[in-house]
Amino acid sequence: MKALVKERAEPGLWLADVPEPAPGPGDVLIKVLRTGICGTDLHIRDYDGWAQQAVRTPIVLGHEFVGEVVDTGAGVTEITAGDLVSGEGHLVCGKCRNCLAGRRHLCRATVGLGVGRDGSFAEYVALPASNVWVHRVPVDLDVAAVFDPFGNAVHTALSFPVVGEDVLITGAGPIGLMAAAVARHAGARNVVVTDVSEQRLELAREVGVSLALNVGEATIADGQRQLGLREGFDVGMEMSGRPEALRDMLANMTHGGRIAMLGLPSEDFAVDWASIVTSMITIKGIYGREMFETWYAMSVLLEGGLDLGPVITGRYPYTDFEAAFADAASGTGGKVILDWTA
Ligand SMILES: NC(=O)c1ccc[n+]([C@@H]2O[C@H](COP(=O)([O-])OP(=O)(O)OC[C@H]3O[C@@H](n4cnc5c(N)ncnc54)[C@H](O)[C@@H]3O)[C@@H](O)[C@H]2O)c1
Ligand SMILES: [Zn+2]
Ligand SMILES: [Zn+2]
Repeated sequence: MKALVKERAEPGLWLADVPEPAPGPGDVLIKVLRTGICGTDLHIRDYDGWAQQAVRTPIVLGHEFVGEVVDTGAGVTEITAGDLVSGEGHLVCGKCRNCLAGRRHLCRATVGLGVGRDGSFAEYVALPASNVWVHRVPVDLDVAAVFDPFGNAVHTALSFPVVGEDVLITGAGPIGLMAAAVARHAGARNVVVTDVSEQRLELAREVGVSLALNVGEATIADGQRQLGLREGFDVGMEMSGRPEALRDMLANMTHGGRIAMLGLPSEDFAVDWASIVTSMITIKGIYGREMFETWYAMSVLLEGGLDLGPVITGRYPYTDFEAAFADAASGTGGKVILDWTA
């Protein structure tokens, strides 16, 4: 089968012929229909410092996908051929304290699909049935392809109650945009999104935010004044991974404000801890998705009319992967989809 492979320990990505995976006991074999390109895939393509320590070559990339089940291994009963599925990209150990307690998203031995084992940028992928989410209601295939990052957005956006609250989201990348859509849909009063890319802020406006603010040109305090806010934001969602964005957020929170932090900083950095203490701010790190509570929420949010249409901005056949990766790396658009049936 065709697959996008990191063949060698150097920058690049290769479209190669690799053996089709066979479903072992408890696995399902999935014919991949569409996949989403993630920042992680760009890091692995570029083979940066993180990728050099995280990835052993050769490896098939990719973790965001939708596909159709074509075969099941021994012992799989709830999933059958023909089911439309997306995959949870975190494979957990099943044995640690958190796994045994049902808190699988907190597993300390998580292996990433397309990072620690072969992934979904291929015509077929085999996954444990326990990592598969069956779409039981009709869903747009492009949206189904990005359930993994959509889950990051939902996990973050629903970490703290947002009904009637003023929400600040730093970073209008694909995940920040989806979190903005969720916070809006979930009943926030104001949703303010910041970025430095005017194109991405324009996408945020399409999603329906109260204010899309370019922090290269105005401050978040200016934004507060514009909206008539007097005491700061109730809920913050950090979606950029940038130190200055978290510092800006901290300086604009209300006392007792709550921050869910998804953005992954690449280095240590300092923040004003004294103000976190005296303002009694809560900061919660968010990794992945809750299995499978977040997935349930994603499906029902879509059923309830949540629109992610503006977030998907690029569509390419898998053979055009170089153009698709360049699009995703431009940092100016939304989510980029590869079609594996074209
Ligand atoms: N914790 C997890 O499980 C998890 C999973 C996926 C991604 N992530 C991280 O979440 C973040 C969001 O992912 P993404 O794919 O949307 O990323 P992205 O890199 O596409 O988006 C980040 C955005 O932040 C903007 N930005 C830069 N400086 C800023 C500033 N000072 N203020 C506001 N915005 C600023 C960038 O212009 C960009 O549009 C990334 O840091 C990513 O590494 C975490
Ligand atoms: Zn991803
Ligand atoms: Zn575990």
